[in-house]
Amino acid sequence: MKTQRNLLVSLFCAVVVALIYALPVQAEDNPCLKCHAKLLQKKEVHAAANMGCDSCHEELDASAVPHKSKGKFAMGLSAEGPALCANCHDKKLFKGKMVHAPVEGGPCLGCHDAHASDYQGVLKKEPAALCLDCHPDVKKGPHVIAGFSRGGHPLGNETKAAQDPLRPGKKFYCVSCHEPHRSELPKLSRFVTKNMASCQKCHKM
Ligand code: HEC
Ligand code: HEC
Ligand code: HEC
Ligand code: HEC
Ligand code: HEC
Ligand code: HEC
Ligand code: HEC
Repeated sequence: MKTQRNLLVSLFCAVVVALIYALPVQAEDNPCLKCHAKLLQKKEVHAAANMGCDSCHEELDASAVPHKSKGKFAMGLSAEGPALCANCHDKKLFKGKMVHAPVEGGPCLGCHDAHASDYQGVLKKEPAALCLDCHPDVKKGPHVIAGFSRGGHPLGNETKAAQDPLRPGKKFYCVSCHEPHRSELPKLSRFVTKNMASCQKCHKM
């Protein structure tokens, strides 16, 4: 009887311990969040931030304020620019027949936030607006279906945005038809766009 109860008690403890570890990172576990909690209080948190601040700020001495960088780079970062991101993200994802100009030449943080964001893909702004900032002409004329619908195809900048039929859980916008980084096809297309088969990827016609 007694051994049975002991067994139950240790089982209970094991469950409690497992639950504690399963919870997301809280301020108590990550001392940095005592002062920097706001940085992650957004809808989408970059998985790297949950892996620990030192996964990027490896060389930071935060024992005093202002902090000191023990390494070569500002803010104790282990690398700068795209090289930092390439520590975890395969460089091949950003190479191809056509590489998007701002990906080729610019920093990843031109479009993404390093920590967290209220927009999908940890983007810096509302997704369609991000693209249209640099491609204002797309909004001026009808896009994709000129002869069909006078306004052209929806772009994902409408007030009531649709869901992406090909990327479950994501909002529909430019990136539903275009690759954001690189493509083997012209115009950064996700798929061959010469015929109606491309429309049928999303529409039953
Ligand atoms: C006691 C509060 C406190 C703690 C704990 C703390 N910070 Fe800070 N941190 C600050 C303040 C204050 C600043 C300067 C003002 C600002 O930029 O918000 C700062 C600035 C920074 C900066 C910018 C530095 C720069 O050169 O501009 C980074 C990066 C940073 N903290 C990372 C961290 C990391 C990583 C940790 C955990 C290892 C951490 N901090 C822990 C208060 C803190
Ligand atoms: C994926 C890499 C990465 C991770 C993980 C990361 N940071 Fe950063 N952090 C950066 C980069 C790059 C910058 C400089 C560019 C910028 O301002 O976003 C920066 C800048 C900062 C700054 C100063 C500028 C700002 O945005 O306020 C603070 C403070 C900071 N980080 C705190 C943290 C804390 C706290 C964590 C852990 C919760 C963390 N970082 C995790 C990459 C990272
Ligand atoms: C310490 C490892 C690490 C570093 C460094 C890192 N990431 Fe990540 N990142 C991850 C992981 C893990 C995921 C989640 C799995 C995945 O999508 O690959 C992720 C996902 C992402 C996503 C997809 C988010 C989504 O919801 O679709 C973006 C965008 C991203 N990272 C951008 C960056 C950028 C920009 C940098 C450089 C500033 C960077 N990452 C550096 C580990 C890292
Ligand atoms: C021109 C803007 C732009 C630039 C520059 C950019 N990205 Fe992205 N990235 C996006 C968009 C848009 C998405 C798709 C977001 C969504 O809707 O989920 C994305 C998605 C991602 C993802 C999720 C997986 C995937 O491939 O879809 C990762 C990881 C990522 N980016 C990392 C990076 C890294 C690392 C760099 C720098 C080498 C970078 N991005 C530069 C716009 C950009
Ligand atoms: C920082 C500015 C910038 C941002 C943000 C940006 N682009 Fe671009 N994009 C360019 C430049 C520069 C070119 C190359 C010159 C050109 O053809 O317009 C280009 C080229 C393209 C092309 C190929 C055009 C062609 O005629 O071959 C497409 C498609 C495209 N971008 C789509 C997007 C989408 C979708 C987004 C949002 C995820 C986006 N862009 C965000 C600057 C940007
Ligand atoms: C329904 C699919 C679809 C959506 C959504 C879409 N595009 Fe396109 N886009 C296309 C097709 C198809 C072409 C022509 C491709 C070709 O000629 O091979 C194109 C061409 C382009 C070009 C090249 C120049 C031009 O106007 O022909 C740019 C730049 C571009 N798109 C940007 C965007 C941006 C920015 C958004 C979001 C605001 C967007 N696209 C949304 C399918 C789409
Ligand atoms: C990546 C997916 C995708 C592709 C490819 C695509 N569409 Fe669409 N299309 C959508 C979505 C999402 C909507 C918005 C539906 C909604 O609002 O419920 C839409 C709406 C439309 C509309 C209604 C326009 C309006 O103003 O309400 C027409 C017409 C249309 N598409 C035709 C086409 C044609 C023709 C093609 C091929 C040239 C095409 N679509 C390719 C996803 C796509």
